[in-house]
Amino acid sequence: MSKIKRIGVFTSGGDAPGMNACVRAVVRTAIYHDIAVTGILQGYQGMIDQSFIEMNSRSVSNTIQMGGTILKTARCLEFRTKEGRAKAYENIRSVGIDALVAIGGDGTFTGAEVFSREYDIPVIGIPGTIDNDLYGTDYTIGYDTANNTVIDAIDKIRDTAASHDRLFFVEVMGRDSGCIALNCGIAGGAEAILLPEKETGIDELIDKLERAKEGKKSSTIVIVAEGDKNGGAYNVAKRVEEKFDFYDTKVTILGHLQRGGSPSSFDRVLASRLGYAAVNRLLAGETRVMVGLRNNEIESTSLEEALSNKEFKLAEDMLEMTNVLAI
Ligand code: F6P
Repeated sequence: MSKIKRIGVFTSGGDAPGMNACVRAVVRTAIYHDIAVTGILQGYQGMIDQSFIEMNSRSVSNTIQMGGTILKTARCLEFRTKEGRAKAYENIRSVGIDALVAIGGDGTFTGAEVFSREYDIPVIGIPGTIDNDLYGTDYTIGYDTANNTVIDAIDKIRDTAASHDRLFFVEVMGRDSGCIALNCGIAGGAEAILLPEKETGIDELIDKLERAKEGKKSSTIVIVAEGDKNGGAYNVAKRVEEKFDFYDTKVTILGHLQRGGSPSSFDRVLASRLGYAAVNRLLAGETRVMVGLRNNEIESTSLEEALSNKEFKLAEDMLEMTNVLAI
């Protein structure tokens, strides 16, 4: 028998489509087991500010299809301090929260890991970020939807690029993670992809563009991850234009539109499975782990490990493939 009587659930860091489907699964699975649920608003900030709401099955009605997060989210600096965490602990205990489900990315898990150790409170993390940069899950919640949004944009850009024989630099999100850039570069038929994890020099890029020109391509699309070391799409475009002015060049920054929108069916199912598993595993005594999906099975990975290995998802052979498929 679990001693847990009240779970606190929160979303934190950058929002991601599917977070609501996940909150819904957490709330309903807990209620099913007669465990009370408190929604903590704005992540760690809400713990410090005492922004709590009582949740029941109806609090999450009609939310499975909604983008964003009904619990709101924030990046909280105060929680990084010992004093901030002490205040947070006092506040959550004052409303009877004795276990936590944290939905977010690496910043969220870093906070959860420290907090859980300091105060010995059980916590389970659920990977919710469009970046797909956590070890221990093949996919994070929101990644699939963000990819679909980006592909839709690239297809539209391709139409106008081909009509005008233009070269487009499209910047996608990913300060430290090239997952969206690589995946959407492949799916969008990009001629080159620039990633934070792998430096591509401007001369190397120009070689590729020369080949596209020689191959008589009518449009060329280069995907630039926001965290690429050349400094983002505007910088790359400027430096390329200085040496290679064959094409009329344009830049599109997709920005935060990648974070919004109704979650894909994949993200809704992933979010539901992970939310359900998180509560069941919490009640079974697991703590300081992230639940993830590996080879279509739910697996637990320690938060420490989930945070430690960043580069596992960028298979070198996928990059090689893009060079071949772009000829
Ligand atoms: O963590 C997801 C992410 O979308 C990153 O890819 C991006 O660099 C960052 O969030 C942007 O965060 P903010 O919304 O705080 O500008």
